[in-house]
Amino acid sequence: MAFETRKRVFSGIQPSGNLHIGNYTGALRNWVRQQDERDCFFCIVDLHAITVPQEPAVLRQGIREVALLYLACGIDPARVTMFVQSHRPEHAQLCWILDCVTPVGWLERMTQYKSKAAAQASVSAGLLAYPVLQAADILLYQADYVPVGEDQRQHVELARDIAGRFNRLFGETFVMPQVELPAVGARIKGLDDPTAKMSKSVAGHKAGHALRLLDPPDVLRKTIGRAVTDSGREIRFNPERLGVTNLLTIYQLCTGQTQAAIESQFEGQGYAGLKRAVADAVIEYLRPIRERYSELEAEPGYIDEVLRQGAERAGPVAAETLEMVTERVGLG
Ligand code: AMP
Ligand code: TRP
Repeated sequence: MAFETRKRVFSGIQPSGNLHIGNYTGALRNWVRQQDERDCFFCIVDLHAITVPQEPAVLRQGIREVALLYLACGIDPARVTMFVQSHRPEHAQLCWILDCVTPVGWLERMTQYKSKAAAQASVSAGLLAYPVLQAADILLYQADYVPVGEDQRQHVELARDIAGRFNRLFGETFVMPQVELPAVGARIKGLDDPTAKMSKSVAGHKAGHALRLLDPPDVLRKTIGRAVTDSGREIRFNPERLGVTNLLTIYQLCTGQTQAAIESQFEGQGYAGLKRAVADAVIEYLRPIRERYSELEAEPGYIDEVLRQGAERAGPVAAETLEMVTERVGLG
């Protein structure tokens, strides 16, 4: 395919440590799959992370850890543009302009805002504007597709609304981005509570919740062994039996088998056998990521260079959009 016709992709993950199997299946795995066909921009969104309080040294460490995990999961910096959001000032610049065309009511309706705001003693203006910054990320690169997990669907829809409003006010400027969810694993649930999504913030303070990409095999096995299941015995994909279905979904992701094959494999078995099989599959599935991570960790200079080059490559694309926007709005 000619370079000019390649579709553009943008996505990002916050550098808040504790990346888990949901981040992999919801996002990273699908990024890796499209790095050849599409023109991909994969970002470490550190400006989003500071919408809630962060310890500076921990944040700095988190940025490196997530960057290394991108590589360990198979992102190839020679084929994609991978960079840190704050290394490109255009994100915050475009965000401000978009802030000024976004009604506050749109932001107050965001479900993630409502739940995060409820968990904070004091809510920053940044937390409310968080999805506008996300829209700026996407629109700055004129992305056609945004591969994310289910929880980000609403934010990508808002980015479309913001793009539409800007285009109406100032003339056709932004490409309309489309959300892209994985067929399986768009919303992995917590193993301690299969009614809630597996989340990095919970993973940071609660053992037994998440399967983290860097957890050693014994920790993974213990977490799966303690997973909440359901009353009843049947091992089937059933949306009403959240615990068992979550384990089966994780098994499906790790083995690539069909649901029918998995159900017949576990027919007549108990939960102990299921958990043992899921643990074996997860351990094997995550092993190469963990191994590659420790190899990469041993050469710290490399990742800095990857991120420097990524920011440099992102520059002209970001600058072109920002210049057009600035001109349309009548600034400068
Ligand atoms: P975050 O952890 O909020 O920085 O999310 C990074 C990416 O992982 C986003 O695309 C999310 O939609 C995705 N993601 C986060 N948690 C899950 C989950 N439990 N299941 C599937 N995808 C997820
Ligand atoms: N808000 C996203 C999350 O927490 C991360 C993110 C920031 C993002 N900017 C983005 C995802 C742009 C896709 C596109 O998961």
